[in-house]
Amino acid sequence: MKKPILNIGLIGTGFMGKAHALGFAAAPRVFDLTHDLVLHTVADVFEGAALAAARAYGFAHHTTDWRAMVADPAIDVISITAPNALHKEMSLAAIAAGKHVYCEKPLAPLAADALEMAVAAEAAEVKTQVGFNYLCNPMLGLARQMIEAGELGELRGIRVIHAEDYMNDPATPYSFRHDKAGGGALADIGSHALATAEFLCGPITRVLGDCVTMVPERPSPTGPRRVEVDDVGRAFLRFASGATGSVEGNWISTGRKMQHDFEVYGTKGALAFSQEHFNVLTYFSTQDPKGRQGFRRIEAGPDHAPYGLFCVAAGHQLGFNDLKAIEVAGFVNAIGGKGPEPFNFRQGLRIQGLVEAIQTSSTQEAWIGV
Ligand SMILES: NC(=O)c1ccc[n+]([C@@H]2O[C@H](COP(=O)([O-])OP(=O)(O)OC[C@H]3O[C@@H](n4cnc5c(N)ncnc54)[C@H](O)[C@@H]3O)[C@@H](O)[C@H]2O)c1
Repeated sequence: MKKPILNIGLIGTGFMGKAHALGFAAAPRVFDLTHDLVLHTVADVFEGAALAAARAYGFAHHTTDWRAMVADPAIDVISITAPNALHKEMSLAAIAAGKHVYCEKPLAPLAADALEMAVAAEAAEVKTQVGFNYLCNPMLGLARQMIEAGELGELRGIRVIHAEDYMNDPATPYSFRHDKAGGGALADIGSHALATAEFLCGPITRVLGDCVTMVPERPSPTGPRRVEVDDVGRAFLRFASGATGSVEGNWISTGRKMQHDFEVYGTKGALAFSQEHFNVLTYFSTQDPKGRQGFRRIEAGPDHAPYGLFCVAAGHQLGFNDLKAIEVAGFVNAIGGKGPEPFNFRQGLRIQGLVEAIQTSSTQEAWIGV
């Protein structure tokens, strides 16, 4: 039987624009979705980039006018991969036009903006998705299942870090990531670490933050520009469960390319994970015999859904773009009424609130309730 169609409009053709386009192309081929997906239109400020993306990924149309695309009644879903400061305006326009919206993180420059976006989406009854793709990893799903099943005993703590080094060189130019409107290492990548912390350990109730700018000036086309956002954002965390923890977002961590890592431990066991080897979860159990204890490797495989839909053999590994396909699948099925939204604007707002609480705590040099 023919499935209904969702026409996709994508804004932005950079790093994430490509990841979204590949996710939309792969998801219907891997998953049994409620809809077929049509790559309808791609928008970019640069005509050449929009045209190249349309040709490369198979969009039927391209444009330099995202507003016209959002207003097009043929389009059902708007995917936003433009710079952070534009997320609010683009999302609100798409929601007002009745579109479902898939927006990259951080959802908005400020929690107040994110709240406006979540409220608008809920009032319009459109489905939303925020790009916290690391939560789509089957091994994070396994970690959460093991915690919920009590395999770690009583949860005591978590250390979570998202560190990369793409801003390590002071000659790296000023970009939208340095914009006070939604920029900084904590908002850019610490937000992923916060999402993982709550995914595994439940709600955070208090934070003590320390956000530091280490590269105070960066080159720009108009000359050196002062940087006001953090290069490193850290916080101590307290969870509603009584567990304690720490989080770090760091984009000057020399040598680190994708250290989205955590260690979570309880009275009976612990889990350790690194995104640099993200098809492996390591597990320590106090129940193992003395003299044989140690962290054991669990390789991702068909026992860890939805890995088996991509590959029938364990240990052959998923890649980053597969996480985007999983994210797209959850979002599309939510639009079709098959399951809840995996990570909607309300949840994106929650992460933005945590980022802001850590920034405020750092300024005030005091614990802040969330
Ligand atoms: N989920 C993740 O793992 C992840 C990873 C990287 C980036 N991101 C997020 O994705 C977003 C984009 O980041 P990126 O690395 O792809 O940036 P990028 O610079 O590679 O791409 C941004 C694109 O937006 C386009 N653009 C800018 N202004 C526009 C406008 N007014 N209309 C249409 N297009 C416009 C640019 O021309 C470019 O093609 C950011 O919000 C970032 O935080 C998420």
